[in-house]
Amino acid sequence: MIRLFVSVIVFSLLVLAAVDSALAQEETVCIQCHTGQSGSLATPVEEWRQSIHAANGVSCHGCHGGDPTDFAMAMSPDRGFIGAPDYASVPDFCGRCHVGVRQNYGESAHGQAVEDGGAQCVVCHNAHAVKKAEISLINEEDCSRCHEYGRAGEIKAAMVETEQMIGSVEQNLDRLHQLGIATDQIEGGLFDLRNRYHSLFHSVDVEKVRSETDGFQGELQEITQGISDIDSQLAQRKIWGGAAVALLLFGGIVSMLIRRTYHDEAGH
Ligand code: HEC
Ligand code: HEC
Ligand code: HEC
Ligand code: HEC
Ligand code: HEC
Repeated sequence: MIRLFVSVIVFSLLVLAAVDSALAQEETVCIQCHTGQSGSLATPVEEWRQSIHAANGVSCHGCHGGDPTDFAMAMSPDRGFIGAPDYASVPDFCGRCHVGVRQNYGESAHGQAVEDGGAQCVVCHNAHAVKKAEISLINEEDCSRCHEYGRAGEIKAAMVETEQMIGSVEQNLDRLHQLGIATDQIEGGLFDLRNRYHSLFHSVDVEKVRSETDGFQGELQEITQGISDIDSQLAQRKIWGGAAVALLLFGGIVSMLIRRTYHDEAGH
C-alpha cells in the first residue's frame, strides 16, 4: 500500500516536471496573448524566440513572473507577476539568476553610476534578443555612445589573448568529441572557467582584468596539457594498432607458406 502511494507521488512529480519544462519551451498564455498584440507588446515575443534564453527554457514568466497557465490571472501580482523593471532596477532583475555577474557589475564604474546613466545589462545585451556573450560586444560603435572609446579599447586588448586561448581549447574539445572521446570533465572545467572569465569583464577595470589574466591563462594551459595527453595516448594507440595489424598479416603469410610447402611435399 505504501509502495503504491509512493509510486503515485513519484509519477505525479514526473508529470509535473514534464509539464513545467514543456511550458518553458512552448506556447504559454503569455506568448499566445502577446503574439496577438501590436508594437512593443508583441516584439518581445519575436526577439525572445531567437535568444539564448529561449534555447535554454527561460521563458517570459522566468523573467517577469506571473502565471503562464491562466489567461485571466496571468499578470496578477498575486501570481508573482513583477512587470517590467525601470532602468536602474534591471541589474537586480537579471541578477536573480546571474549572481556572479551581478556582483562584479555592482562594484564597477557602470554599476556605481547606474542612477546617472551608467550602462546596465540590457544596454549591452538587450532585454529579449539576448545572444551568447562574445568579446565583439565590446566595439567602438556601442561603447562610445556615452564616453570615449579609449579605456573600453584597453580592456578589449587585455582580453583578446585569453579569449583566443579559450576559443582554441573549445575547438580541440570539439575535435575530440567528434572522435567519440568522453570530454565531459574537461568541458565542465572549461565551462566554469569561461563563465568566471566572462563575468570579469563587468568590472570594466583594466588593472583587474590584467592582474587576473595570468591565473586564467595558467588554468587554460593545464586544460591544454590534459588535451595533449589524450592526443598522445591516441597516437600511441594508433602505433600499437598498426603493429597488431602488421603482426596478423605476417602470421597469415607464414601460415600460407607453411601450408603451401606441406601441399607441395604431399603432392610429390
Ligand atoms: C490576455 C492577454 C495577455 C496575457 C495572457 C498576458 N499579457 Fe502581458 N500584457 C498584455 C497587455 C494588453 C499589456 C499592456 C497593458 C498592461 O500593462 O496591462 C501587457 C503588458 C505586459 C508587460 C509590460 C508591463 C509593464 O510594466 O510595462 C509585461 C512585462 C507582460 N505583459 C508580460 C506578460 C507575462 C510574463 C505573461 C504571462 C505570465 C503575460 N504578460 C500574459 C496582455 C497579456
Ligand atoms: C531575460 C529576461 C526576459 C525575458 C525572458 C523576457 N523579458 Fe520582457 N523585458 C525584460 C526587461 C529587462 C524589460 C525592460 C527593459 C526594456 O524595456 O528594454 C522587459 C520589457 C518587456 C515589456 C515592456 C516593453 C515596453 O517597451 O514597454 C513587455 C511587454 C515584455 N517585456 C514582454 C515579454 C514577453 C511577452 C516575453 C516572452 C516572450 C518576455 N518579455 C521575456 C526581460 C525579459
Ligand atoms: C558595458 C556592457 C555590458 C554591461 C553593462 C553588461 N554586460 Fe554582460 N557582458 C558584456 C560583454 C562584453 C561580455 C563578454 C565578455 C567576454 O567575451 O569575455 C558579457 C558577458 C556576459 C555573460 C556571460 C558570462 C557568464 O558569466 O556567463 C552574462 C551572463 C552577462 N554578461 C550578463 C550580464 C548581466 C546580468 C548584466 C547586468 C548586471 C550585464 N551582463 C551587464 C557586456 C556587458
Ligand atoms: C530565470 C533566470 C534568468 C534570468 C532572470 C536571466 N537569465 Fe540570462 N541566462 C539564464 C540561463 C539559464 C542562461 C543559459 C545558460 C548560461 O549560458 O548560463 C542564460 C544566458 C544568458 C547569457 C549568455 C551567457 C553566455 O554563456 O554567453 C546572457 C548574456 C544573459 N543570459 C543575460 C541576461 C540578461 C541581460 C538578463 C536580464 C534582462 C538575464 N540574462 C536574465 C537565466 C536567466
Ligand atoms: C549607457 C551609457 C554607457 C555605455 C553604452 C557604455 N558605458 Fe562605460 N561608462 C558609463 C558611465 C556613466 C561611466 C562612469 C563615468 C566614467 O568613468 O566616464 C562609464 C565608465 C566606463 C569605464 C571606466 C571605468 C574606470 O573607472 O576606469 C570603462 C572602462 C567603460 N565604461 C567601458 C565601457 C565599455 C567596454 C562599453 C561597451 C561594451 C561601455 N563602457 C559602454 C556609461 C556607459
